[in-house]
Amino acid sequence: MASKQQTIYFGRFIDTPTPTALRIRTGAILVNASDGTGKIEKADWTVTSANDATSKLGVEAPVVAAGDDGFFFPGFIDTHIHAPQYPNVGIFGKTTLLDWLTTYTFPVESSLGNPNSPMYTKTLPNGTSNPKQIDPLARAKTVYTRTLQRTLSHGTTTASYFATLSVAATNHLADLAHNIGQRALIGRVCMDEPATCPDYYRDSSATESLEASKACIAHCRKVDPTGLLVAPIITPRFAPSCTVESLRNLGQLASSEDVRVQTHLSENRNECALVKSLFPERESYTDVYDHAGLLTPKTILAHAIHLDDKEIETIAQRGAKISHCAASNSALGSGFCRVRTLLDRGVDVGLGTDVSGGHSPSILDAVRQTCFVSRHVGFLDGGDSRWNIGVEEGLWLATVGGSKVVGMEGSVGIFEEGAAWDALEIRLGADIGSEDEAEVGENGVSIFGWESWDDRVAKWVWNGDDRNVRRVWVGGRLVHERKS
Ligand code: GUN
Ligand code: FE
Repeated sequence: MASKQQTIYFGRFIDTPTPTALRIRTGAILVNASDGTGKIEKADWTVTSANDATSKLGVEAPVVAAGDDGFFFPGFIDTHIHAPQYPNVGIFGKTTLLDWLTTYTFPVESSLGNPNSPMYTKTLPNGTSNPKQIDPLARAKTVYTRTLQRTLSHGTTTASYFATLSVAATNHLADLAHNIGQRALIGRVCMDEPATCPDYYRDSSATESLEASKACIAHCRKVDPTGLLVAPIITPRFAPSCTVESLRNLGQLASSEDVRVQTHLSENRNECALVKSLFPERESYTDVYDHAGLLTPKTILAHAIHLDDKEIETIAQRGAKISHCAASNSALGSGFCRVRTLLDRGVDVGLGTDVSGGHSPSILDAVRQTCFVSRHVGFLDGGDSRWNIGVEEGLWLATVGGSKVVGMEGSVGIFEEGAAWDALEIRLGADIGSEDEAEVGENGVSIFGWESWDDRVAKWVWNGDDRNVRRVWVGGRLVHERKS
């Protein structure tokens, strides 16, 4: 039976059900979007042509084919990204975390929704000052639209976003993610500690943090009552920005409303010292969150670099997840996250761009940075290659690992029946000397024609970029198509 809701995808499908090997299959996948979720209904790995696909799958549905020089890959999951910081990518100078926050980050975040932000009084390179926005949400609309479009163009189909303190701007991010069609966790940032937060960018009280969080949770639930595409996430910025009362309130809210939590943990040595001085009664940085009831299987902890054994044990016991942000850790000189140790101890790990601590909105770039940093960790630990993360494991962290971190294991990040069709069509450069060469060109990835598919994927990881991402689907909906 023909159905407008069904689509057949035909070609090469590559995914990473395990960290040790790519799974490379050719055939066809049938996606059914009739209930609005766009799930993989059936797969047939004996299909060899588009015609064959319709007869073997038993449906008259349109066929979308990945070319011979391409493949389908699960959409990437960015487990930690700050949407309002996207205008600042690459702007961090020589700062490290704490002066980076006050110099670059709080000004840009506060400018989305707050007409009193220092961004509007700063002198611009041309000698004028930034005009105050008449519509305080105008900048948020521009920045958030661009952030969603650029991350999609790099293949991010799911993202866990930090927004800002502004409820209106945060709600707008939820609306945009829903309209544009990216799967998103939306977090209204909470910060109420007067000793560490600037006057122009701070909640007036723990009660304000709580009430504003509730308002954003309610909005996200209204936008998407299923919570499958857009869902709220409670977001205390990090321990130093929050009072004990606020952390406790937010822990209780997470439990009573059954909402996810995201925050930063143990990123930078000065930050760790600050936490020690602000929370002297707590045993460790991890204990600050644990004491507030913020460590659960629904918690995402970004960075998690300077942890002792007991802290790792607590995180493992609570089932909390870690977002590894390799680019940011290098850019801000934060340190080396020991990903292998975390995985060995049974902690789920995914990758985060941490824009704009990280310079790139691309999770493919996060895979590269993760591979590099793992070698630095190996070097520091005596040169043992067991620390090294290779292409397969990096891609596994970017998809399956990420799906565990955002609580969507089995429903995204993998090509299995029942999973959502959150997928990328990747096109590499054409074989040199082939008929397609003139049309496809190099596309950033030079293919000679003799490489195995494992090697082609390695070349994509190391030299690929958004030019290779031809089409992007979320829940069976086409949400990005490259024009050239
Ligand atoms: N710690 C507190 N806020 C931030 C932030 O915005 N980015 C990073 N990387 N770390 C933080
Ligand atoms: Fe961050």
